[in-house]
Amino acid sequence: MLHLSPSILAADTANLAVAVCAAEAGGADSLHIDIMDGHYVANYAFSPKTLADLRRVTTLPLHAHLEVGNPDAVLSLFAAADMIIVQEDATPNLTSTIAAIRRLGCAVGVAVNRNRSVEPLLPVLDRVDLLLVMAVEPGFGGQPFDASVLDKVRWLHAQRASSRLDFAIGVDGGVNLSTIALSVAAGADFFAVGSAAFTGDITESVRQLRAAASANRRLT
Ligand code: DX5
Ligand code: ZN
Repeated sequence: MLHLSPSILAADTANLAVAVCAAEAGGADSLHIDIMDGHYVANYAFSPKTLADLRRVTTLPLHAHLEVGNPDAVLSLFAAADMIIVQEDATPNLTSTIAAIRRLGCAVGVAVNRNRSVEPLLPVLDRVDLLLVMAVEPGFGGQPFDASVLDKVRWLHAQRASSRLDFAIGVDGGVNLSTIALSVAAGADFFAVGSAAFTGDITESVRQLRAAASANRRLT
């Protein structure tokens, strides 16, 4: 199953409900909500209130991507999210952070930055719902896709098959009609898409992204 998660960082926040409903009409599977604290990244974005407000205008699952310095201190603020995604390098004990997210009743995503290797995450692959490979530096939308991260996607795909696990393999940052195809071919099945989803006719953009992903879908 391919999962398309439009990232509202790129949406017109003065008309957020309109943008979100357009993405939903295009076949979005969830909404990706970047939370930035001006500390882990040099930018600010969204808050628990964004999730509460969006909950009233859409039935799509809400994914909170915590790009913050101390996620453990704020996890409970995001208990209303369907999934909480943490940066693996932002927490001193990833296993306990994962357990804390589970206790809140949320699905678990773990994101790995471009300059970090994915092999050390092997012990937690059996307890995550999503392993999200960052293809840009976190903090801003509209950056170019770093294709070298696809080696991590291939490694995750091989591990998932050999260990018979079923976590989603995601890519976040710089995903567009071309890079989504490359990512699918490498083994990814989950995409957080900002600029390429929320430009022009949003409904049509989301539809085209899904079509580009489906056309390159792997059978294994
Ligand atoms: C980057 C965020 C991404 C961002 C993607 O810090 O985690 O989710 O919104 O935006 P694009 O698709 O424009 O690179
Ligand atoms: Zn994100």
